[in-house]
Amino acid sequence: MADEQLLCHLDEIPDGGARGLLRQGRDDRVFAVRQGAQVSVWLNDCPHNHRPLDYRQDQFLSGDGRHIVCYAHSAHFAIADGHCFAGPCAGQYLTRVPARLGADGSVWIAVPLPAAPAPFRAAGRSESRHS
Ligand code: FES
Repeated sequence: MADEQLLCHLDEIPDGGARGLLRQGRDDRVFAVRQGAQVSVWLNDCPHNHRPLDYRQDQFLSGDGRHIVCYAHSAHFAIADGHCFAGPCAGQYLTRVPARLGADGSVWIAVPLPAAPAPFRAAGRSESRHS
């Protein structure tokens, strides 16, 4: 990985849960999902309408913790690869942020972050979050 940024420590993410990170305005730019010693990091950008996925702070997963959910229109994504398997954007993917777990449990992400899809960049997500 060329350039990296310290995102958080593994202990800051609940095992079997998720946490929003890199606060920007009222939204988190990314979220991390932890399953034991495995961490995946994603842009907080739903491919359906390019809104943040969470309906409240750190709520990114289904009730059973098995899937990522966008609460705007109930799109469901696989944690393994970000594939939307149910909902209005079925067949599309979340944008993965390359991440690395250090030996001390620190979580590092590649920077700059992957680009969000064009409609997201043009629209300004905060204005449309609750519309
Ligand atoms: S904005 Fe995520 S399902 Fe519609």
